[in-house]
Amino acid sequence: MSATAASRQAMPAAPPRLVADGVGKSFAGLAAIADVTFSVGAGELVAVLGPSGAGKTTLFRCLTGLLAPDGGTVRVGGEDIATLHGRARRRVAVVFQQFNLVNRISALDNVLAGRLGHVPAWRGVLRRFDRADRLLALECLDRVGLLDKAMQRADTLSGGQQQRVAIARAMAQRPDLIVADEPVASLDPAAGAGVLELLHGIARRDGVAVVCSLHQVGFARTYADRVVGLSQGRLALDMPVDRFDEAAFARLYGTPSAARAGAAGPIAMQQEGPRP
Ligand SMILES: Nc1ncnc2c1ncn2[C@@H]1O[C@H](COP(=O)(O)OP(=O)(O)O)[C@@H](O)[C@H]1O
Ligand SMILES: [Mg+2]
Repeated sequence: MSATAASRQAMPAAPPRLVADGVGKSFAGLAAIADVTFSVGAGELVAVLGPSGAGKTTLFRCLTGLLAPDGGTVRVGGEDIATLHGRARRRVAVVFQQFNLVNRISALDNVLAGRLGHVPAWRGVLRRFDRADRLLALECLDRVGLLDKAMQRADTLSGGQQQRVAIARAMAQRPDLIVADEPVASLDPAAGAGVLELLHGIARRDGVAVVCSLHQVGFARTYADRVVGLSQGRLALDMPVDRFDEAAFARLYGTPSAARAGAAGPIAMQQEGPRP
């Protein structure tokens, strides 16, 4: 039994941090996702896999409350995301494929933006963060290994560094849940592994629930606790990562992984990195 499975058994009473229950969303009468049900516990990293067009981004936009589902509910910490407004939304942090930093300001100021949900609005407008917020932001930059870049403009950092700043910003939000839609799709394998290692560490050390879509199955196998598979908008599988074998892969992608290795990149290489 994996350490994760053991710890889940040891804490049966803890309710999941994220519950998607029968979530559906259509565009112009066509279902992008339908009846998607799964949950993510505190301290758990769940990888969402599936071919392009399977509905991953639509699902993630529903999870963060950016998009209202046509059917079903999304609950974070037991509360319907549709009823969480303003500051309560800070419980959910989002990490994007394209980092979404403000280019012209420093790494530190980008991380401080993660505190905006916590400080009075006027402080945010005037960028008057107090000492505790600044220390927290520096601590978050330190956690992602970029303390020495704190004063550097975001657009002068490498892609991998920018995504780490975005993760520091998410951490500064002190969220219950991090939703990351293809956070490593724009990064080379080494930078991608670094980012996933950070997300895994945040789940474990801070007890944050992390849900992360990926195209690289090797990364899911290395860093995820569970795999949720979407196919044509529907939940195709939900299993512990050690059960995500060749048969499950073929069921999800409709092709054996050997055939996919050429198209998707060196899966074996991505698995080489040490598990944190
Ligand atoms: N805003 C939109 N308007 C119309 N169709 C959309 C919109 N967003 C997504 N879709 C459709 O929903 C389906 C799922 O897309 P998406 O959620 O982006 O999948 P994935 O992220 O897995 O590639 C696709 O068929 C896509 O064309
Ligand atoms: Mg997508």
